[in-house]
Amino acid sequence: MPNTKIAGIGFYVPEQVVTNHDLMRHMDTTDEWIQERSGIVERRYAKRHEETTSTIGAKAARIAIERAGISEEDVDFIIFATLSPDYFFPGCGVLLQRELGITKTEIGALDIRNQCSGFVYGLSVADQFVRSGMYKNVLLVGAEIHSMGLDYSTRGRNVTVLFGDGAGAVVLQPTDEPGKGVLTSKLHSDGSYAEQLAFINPGCHSGYHARKMEQDIDFGYDEDAEFGGLFLSKKMFDDGMIFPNMDGQLVFKTAVTKFPEVIMEVLEDQGLQTSDIDLLVPHQANLRISQFVQRRLKLSDDQVWNNIQRYGNTTAATIPIALCEAWEAGKVKDGDLICLAAFGSGFTWGASLIRW
Ligand code: UT7
Repeated sequence: MPNTKIAGIGFYVPEQVVTNHDLMRHMDTTDEWIQERSGIVERRYAKRHEETTSTIGAKAARIAIERAGISEEDVDFIIFATLSPDYFFPGCGVLLQRELGITKTEIGALDIRNQCSGFVYGLSVADQFVRSGMYKNVLLVGAEIHSMGLDYSTRGRNVTVLFGDGAGAVVLQPTDEPGKGVLTSKLHSDGSYAEQLAFINPGCHSGYHARKMEQDIDFGYDEDAEFGGLFLSKKMFDDGMIFPNMDGQLVFKTAVTKFPEVIMEVLEDQGLQTSDIDLLVPHQANLRISQFVQRRLKLSDDQVWNNIQRYGNTTAATIPIALCEAWEAGKVKDGDLICLAAFGSGFTWGASLIRW
């Protein structure tokens, strides 16, 4: 059975740079607070009316496709990971297919809703398809446009300052080179914390989960509506329930435990240790989280790639953007052991080991 290799990689970030000082004009925050708590200096925002999650995904995809030495028509399966899709439905996978001008219908398009761990989950799914021989050119994209769904008032500052827009893509192909390609992936989830980092409305929940958990959570749905009125209510707008919410401290504490655990899990699975890692590309949630993980695993600065300072958290796009930047900088070389690891909303988390 062949392994799965990354045959081409690309990324795209929108041109517009938004600094912490730019955000200070909209909300009560400071450059010092944002840098000290997250490491972020600036992020990119997409051009409204011109760019969408699927179109920026397509920009990254075209680069990955070209670098893989194939054409758009050669792609036989699309996996699109995002939490900020163009539409509620259909998913970004088919929109990407259309944007890339892929007219053949002998192709599948799958959307992945795993937020920060979407790329690692997507890689694991793609790996199964490639190794089984079902597909030969899987296009995996992680892309987000957060800027159109954030609360720019002081109420939303704990979330808004962290996120940015961007896209990354890889083309996955079979390789017969022994010991090369994706060596292993481990995926995890714990739905107990689903609402602690979430974008809940609009949704079809009608308050069900709060009642079931016997928790006094007000999701703002309309109790009195006979029909409808359940997706969006005036209260949801008035109280800002149409924006993401996050228990930052809980996410932080859980992330710094789960990252090292799952990284050790993939290493142990392959009989390897942290000193064998040439480059760890962690999901870019917070520079403090990455630094904590680095210290815990006793990794050198040279073994970890961070770019959150320039792009913020681009969720499903952070790993392919960071991996692509590292590759372009010559930090990912033939034979290197690369570890990808992610943690986020769900909670879901996972890691993959790749021999480049
Ligand atoms: O991909 C996964 C996605 N998310 C994460 O990984 C996030 C994980 N969590 C974090 O990164 C951190 O929890 C944050 C960066 C979000 C927050 O840092 P923190 O050290 O946990 O701060 P905090 O939430 O405990 O808030 C401390 C104070 C509060 O004020 P009071 O109550 O002490 O007066 C907040 O209201 O900081 C205030 N605050 C802000 N102040 C200025 C919250 N956001 C801001 C802000 N600017 N943007």
